[in-house]
Amino acid sequence: MTWMITGGAGYIGAHVVRAMTGAGERAVVYDDLSTGLAERVPDGVPLVVGSTLDAELLDRTLLGHDVTGVVHLAAKKQVGESAARPLHYYRENVEGLRVLLDAVTAAGVPSLVFSSSAAVYGMPDVELVTEETPCAPMSPYGETKLAGEWLVRATGRATGLSTACLRYFNVAGAAAPQLADVGVFNLVPMVFERLTRGAPPRVFGDDYPTPDGTCVRDYIHVSDLAEAHVAAARALAAAAGRDLTLNIGRGEGVSVREMIDRIGAVTGHRRAPDVTARRPGDPARVVASADRAAAALGWKARHDVHDMITSAWAGWLRLHPEAAAPGPGDSSPGALTAP
Ligand code: WQD
Repeated sequence: MTWMITGGAGYIGAHVVRAMTGAGERAVVYDDLSTGLAERVPDGVPLVVGSTLDAELLDRTLLGHDVTGVVHLAAKKQVGESAARPLHYYRENVEGLRVLLDAVTAAGVPSLVFSSSAAVYGMPDVELVTEETPCAPMSPYGETKLAGEWLVRATGRATGLSTACLRYFNVAGAAAPQLADVGVFNLVPMVFERLTRGAPPRVFGDDYPTPDGTCVRDYIHVSDLAEAHVAAARALAAAAGRDLTLNIGRGEGVSVREMIDRIGAVTGHRRAPDVTARRPGDPARVVASADRAAAALGWKARHDVHDMITSAWAGWLRLHPEAAAPGPGDSSPGALTAP
C-alpha cells in the first residue's frame, strides 16, 4: 500500500515514515514545512510541500501517487499558543482536516489514521484514563483534536472510511539523533535547555495530590508511538469500516521530579530543581490505560523512560555540543557521559 503521511517531515511524522517504510509500506510525505524539516524525509520517499488547506494539491497528490491510505499528523500542537491564537488552531487543525477528509473520500481512499492527543481528556480525575473517560479539553489545542475526532468518525460512518484516532500521551525520545525533537516545548527538552546553560530545571508546582506533589504523566517513546501507527494502518487495511479510538501510552505514571532526577543521572548535569508556581491548566495526573490498543492492535510499548531520555539527550548533544561540558552548577561534573 501507499500511505500519504501528512506532517511526515515533523518530529513524530518522520518516525512514522521510517516505521512504515521499514515495515514494507510505501510512503509519500505531505508537509508544508512550517515546522517540518525536508532533511528528515528519507531518500526514496517523495516529499510534496503543501498545506492540508490546499484541496487541489491534495487531489493531485492522492491520485498522482496512487495513495491507498492516509496518516494525518500535520497540525499545530502548542497548548499555550493555541490559547493566544485559537482561530489559527481551528483553521489549521479542524478546517485543514475537513479539507483533507473531503479529498480522501472523493479519491476513494479507504483508510485514515488520525493523530489525536491525551489533551482531549483535559483534567481526568481517574487513576488510569480509558477511552471511555469523558473528554473535556482544557485548551483550544485539545478542542481542535476532539473536534477532529468527531469529523473523522462522522466521515467514517457516512462514507465507510476506515478510521483510527490515536490519542498520544507524552511523547519523548528519538530513533536516531538527527530525528530528535528540535522544539523546546515539553518537559524533557525544557530541562535539557536549563541544564545546558547552567540553570536549575523548573518544577511547575509541587503541591499536587500525587505521591511527591509533582504532576504525573505517561511518557511514551516516539519509536513505540510510530509502531502503533503501523499497527493501526494495517488493522484498517485488513478490514473495511473500522472505527478505532485508542490511547497510545504505557500505563506507567512518572512524576516531574522523577523525570528530572533521571535526566540528571543520564546527562550528568545534576542540579536541584527550582519549584515555581503551578502552570495554569496542568492536570495532576494523566496516565493511560493501554489495554484497548493492546487488544485491538496487538501493540505494546517496548521502550522505557531511560531509553527516552538517553535517545533525546543524544539528539540534544548533536545540536548543542556545548551541553557535553560540565555546567557551572553541576554537583558531580565528573559524571558526564554522552550516550
Ligand atoms: C509535562 C509535565 C508540566 C516543563 C502537553 C500537551 C499535550 C501533549 C504533550 C501535544 C507538566 C511539567 C514541564 C518544565 C515542569 N501535546 N513541567 N517543568 O503539559 O503534560 O502535555 O504536551 O500533543 O497535549 O498538553 O507536557 O511536557 O509540557 O509537561 O514542571 O520545565 O512537566 O507542568 O506537569 P503536558 P509537558
